[in-house]
Amino acid sequence: MNITFDEINLLTGMVGEHGLTATEIREGEAAASAALASFRTRLQPEKPVAEQTYGFPHLPFDRASRDAITAYAGSVRGRFDTVCVVGIGGSALGAWALDCALRGPHPVQAAFSPANPRLVILDNVDPMFISDALRSMDPARTLVLAIAKSGATAETVAAFFAVRGWLEDALGPAAAKDRIAAVTSPEKGALRELVAKESYQSFEVPENVGGRFSVLCPVGLLPAALCGLDIERISAGAAEMTARCWKPDLSENPALRAAMFHWLMLTRRGKSIQVAFPYANRLWGVAFWFRQLWAESLGKRVNRAGVVVHTGQTPVAALGTTDQHSQVQLYAEGPNDKVFSFWAVREFSSPGLIPAIKTGLEPMDYLGGQTLAKLLDAEQRSTAAALTTAHRPNCTYTLDRLDEEHIGAFLQLFEFQTAFAGEMLGIDAFDQPGVEEGKKFTFALMGREGFGKHAQSYRDYEARREAARSSIMGT
Ligand code: PA5
Repeated sequence: MNITFDEINLLTGMVGEHGLTATEIREGEAAASAALASFRTRLQPEKPVAEQTYGFPHLPFDRASRDAITAYAGSVRGRFDTVCVVGIGGSALGAWALDCALRGPHPVQAAFSPANPRLVILDNVDPMFISDALRSMDPARTLVLAIAKSGATAETVAAFFAVRGWLEDALGPAAAKDRIAAVTSPEKGALRELVAKESYQSFEVPENVGGRFSVLCPVGLLPAALCGLDIERISAGAAEMTARCWKPDLSENPALRAAMFHWLMLTRRGKSIQVAFPYANRLWGVAFWFRQLWAESLGKRVNRAGVVVHTGQTPVAALGTTDQHSQVQLYAEGPNDKVFSFWAVREFSSPGLIPAIKTGLEPMDYLGGQTLAKLLDAEQRSTAAALTTAHRPNCTYTLDRLDEEHIGAFLQLFEFQTAFAGEMLGIDAFDQPGVEEGKKFTFALMGREGFGKHAQSYRDYEARREAARSSIMGT
């Protein structure tokens, strides 16, 4: 497994005043070592794993969890041609990231069978989306995974009810139950209670693993295993990366180095937007997973001392080469408020020979006989060069290949990078009070008991809107 991080185009020698100086990098190095030390201390490594504050670094080493997944996947193999995940945010994006990276973007997976099941992810409550999805699946051949750590997220509960009702209508309650498994907190929450009531097959999200850091536990690995992916290889890659992420030497620790450069870009150069720019359609799911990880972890109102900081860096996903013809004009000439993170792949499993067709037309014929992989690589390097020339700081992560080990390692690299960046910003990268607040308003609006305070607060908000509307009438 080999993943590299190249920061040269972030330096002042490449992008002038938008780049970093040697002095700033030395300051960054001191902040990075402090971040590594404080994150390690915060983990409380002296305690048993289950009691440590953060559990994601341990997930690649959780043998018991993977054994349970593998045993279950083996026991149901051949019975289903569709795996339907019902979950949202951190309970859905990891499954998509893995599947997209290792089997390809969904529209391409047209042919599905019990040997190669389709993954359908219901991560929204758009009624047309849900009914279209249900119409596309055969209840007798669908395995449903209800995934929610809290066990009460309104969207997930509603979509789960829709799917469970659909299964029961078609097959009856007993057969429906046999086609449902849940992934949730070991002890807390309504979904855990439902598991006990209905005797659903179930798997655990460790209490010390938050949604967006949960891809390497049953939240991501159960759907992956059911779709036939090799979760041992994914975890082996992540384990190897974990070892690197604890190294104090920045040249050996890509997560710490990348965190340091992104922190410097944000705090020293005001680059408040990071464009994650994969040059591989298979990394599109990882880009969306990363968007949540970086946004929800670092976008915070207060720091750990309680001081209001309103910090964070807005992650944007762009796909190379497609978005060169959509976004790059803005990126090269618009506001210089972004840092670009290219994600390149050194070797594709098949380079895609371009047929040596001779048309007699020079603007076309030079491409014949070359490969699509060479063109993709040339486009990525050209875009990096063009942005650098326009003084737009950019860096490149390069994966040797898109296989299980590299994807597991890449995801783990980003989780550590995010944790380190959180330490450098002095914020808690593991909570999400802004999301929780929105969830409470939804509960209040949907009439859930115990949310009267939020219902009142919503009525106050409506009254303020009315007052604001009246205040501009006749102006
Ligand atoms: O990262 C997070 O914690 C969130 O994005 C959650 O994953 C998301 O809100 C879904 O929560 P739950 O798994 O409890 O349904």
